[in-house]
Amino acid sequence: MMYKPSSGDEVDSWQEVQLVYNAALKEVGTKLEILNDEFQHVHRYNPIEHIKTRIKSSESIVKKLKKYGKESTIENMVEYVNDIAGVRVICSFTSDIYRIAEMIGRQSDITVLSVKDYIANPKPSGYKSYHMIISVPIFLSNRVVETKAEIQIRTVAMDFWATLEHKIHYKFEGDVPEHIEAELVECAQMVSSLDAKMLSLNEEVRRASGTEAEMY
Ligand code: GTP
Ligand code: MG
Repeated sequence: MMYKPSSGDEVDSWQEVQLVYNAALKEVGTKLEILNDEFQHVHRYNPIEHIKTRIKSSESIVKKLKKYGKESTIENMVEYVNDIAGVRVICSFTSDIYRIAEMIGRQSDITVLSVKDYIANPKPSGYKSYHMIISVPIFLSNRVVETKAEIQIRTVAMDFWATLEHKIHYKFEGDVPEHIEAELVECAQMVSSLDAKMLSLNEEVRRASGTEAEMY
């Protein structure tokens, strides 16, 4: 059963929402750590560089509902905002991204609700990342609730770009001068060619040594 906040006191329901989405972050975070540890054990290599998690602030949730033309109720937050729980997985190589996405999708208690592959199809801004909206069961004292989370998987280089681009957008309140936008698109192309070069270099080293390079 999909999670629905208990009705009643607003403050109380909002606290319950935070509790449930925090639990989702912990579940997904642990799953990713286990996959990374096992991968290290089998292949002597870590596909995950690091993981960041966050709960979306109530201000950002309200802003998003407004954008969707929905009233700011706690029910609407849970129904329409898919990224209240957000997990960002940073990898070294593009190939790791698809490996991780596949491993997540194969877990029997995770339901993949939607996927957006902005690596195969980058945004006009130059943005690249692999996005999954998933649901994971959270075991409460008297019920089990399916809870949504957004997982963004990207390389270190893509993350570098996205962080700067986000900061620039914030600074100009969305109204970024054209020449800066153009430079960002150019940087995004450099990120893509850097990622491609690093991947092929790593593969060459791996072939030469007959194993994954133990560089960490
Ligand atoms: P929102 O963009 O979040 O309203 O939802 P959406 O349904 O359009 O999802 P989308 O997959 O486009 O984006 C989800 C998230 O990806 C955003 O909240 C950002 O964290 C990130 N993202 C998407 N596009 C960009 C971009 O052009 N630049 C940066 N820096 N981040 C982006
Ligand atoms: Mg968007």
